[in-house]
Amino acid sequence: MDSRISGFYSLSMHDRRVAIANAMSMELPTFRAWEDAESLDESTADRMIENVVGRLSLPVGIAMNFLIDGKSTFIPFCVEESSIVAAASNIAKRAHNSGGFTTDVDPPRMIGQLQILDVPDMNVAIQNINQNKDELMDKCNDIESTMIRLGGGCKDIECRIVEAESQNMLVVHLIVDTRDAMGANAVNTMAERAAPWLENLTGGRVLLRILSNLATQRLARASVRLSPESMSSSGDAEEGGRIIDDVILAFEFADADPWRAATHNKGIMNAISPVGLACGQDWRAIEAGAHAFAAITGRYRSMTRWWKDEQGWINGSIEIPIAVGIVGGASKVHPVARLNLELTGVTSAQELAGIMACAGLAQNLGAMRALATKGIQEGHMRLHLRNMVISAGAEPHEIDDVANAVRSDGSNITQSLVNSKLEEYRQS
Ligand code: MEV
Repeated sequence: MDSRISGFYSLSMHDRRVAIANAMSMELPTFRAWEDAESLDESTADRMIENVVGRLSLPVGIAMNFLIDGKSTFIPFCVEESSIVAAASNIAKRAHNSGGFTTDVDPPRMIGQLQILDVPDMNVAIQNINQNKDELMDKCNDIESTMIRLGGGCKDIECRIVEAESQNMLVVHLIVDTRDAMGANAVNTMAERAAPWLENLTGGRVLLRILSNLATQRLARASVRLSPESMSSSGDAEEGGRIIDDVILAFEFADADPWRAATHNKGIMNAISPVGLACGQDWRAIEAGAHAFAAITGRYRSMTRWWKDEQGWINGSIEIPIAVGIVGGASKVHPVARLNLELTGVTSAQELAGIMACAGLAQNLGAMRALATKGIQEGHMRLHLRNMVISAGAEPHEIDDVANAVRSDGSNITQSLVNSKLEEYRQS
């Protein structure tokens, strides 16, 4: 399988599906869920949340060219903003020359927090918990659950003292291996089960029992390395070297300044959240964890690092909590999410987290490369116009000529202007 399909963007939507099916040696009907804007039927939607009155469709686009741990990968994005998918695909293509991306993902360990108040003696309470840790974990794991049968479950218990405004609180972390589930339900159930036992051991009162979205034991890491030639627009090493230097200055700006970091990190989440959404994940949880982790040193910083090595190549890495699952939740219920997950070819939650980290890293480099050269507006407007020409019904061979005709008209670019330019072009 090769995730590089030449001219993919200029194919019709149907032909893109055919190209993906061919590349993956799969039958076209497998991809039927993409064709049907209504593929989430009313009764399924009605079971997902409360007070359902309708459904909202968003485009699903495929980021191409990704090579991840030596494996060609199609990455589905579900998002309303243009240019994102193109930018990720563009960087993935440049990175392909140097072997693509590599990942390193923690085991799927989530944290369940219990807030214990009015503890008479913190030291005694912590000692009691530590002495009874194994028994406590056994109790937590004494439930009928596939996750536990597969080797998951509560693996450790940690205690922290949190100095809050009115009192010092004892905060207990249940460290739970959730296997291929995101794990929110399992962790919350376990935290609720553990509460009375912890009250007995500490003499305190348990108030909150809930997972933490700052999944510091479930980090996904990705890295990439690109040559100056790959970073230039024309293969020119000197130009590429200048771009690398400027991209690194752009990174330094984000890492030093929270105003810039917010936008820079938004650009990273431009990939991570859409892949999460496309694959039926709780993208709010991922967003919350990612931003909290970016501030874990006490200062809100870049989620990525970029530097130049001795050969003058640019190196980038990302380390970010990504709590995702491939069993249960919307990833199983929503037909398009199911299909998108299948497209990625992942067989574990860890692999999905790794792919998302790579997408975020690529997206970040794409944004910085554009910002440090021409700015983002030119490419954005060009792609936007292209998309308008395609939605006017232009065939691949007509797109560039019609886009040029619209641009040289000089008037405000509207869909009706684009439609009329296509008509004129066909009549000429
Ligand atoms: C726009 O959606 C994202 C960017 O603003 C990210 C960035 O500034 O790095 C282009």
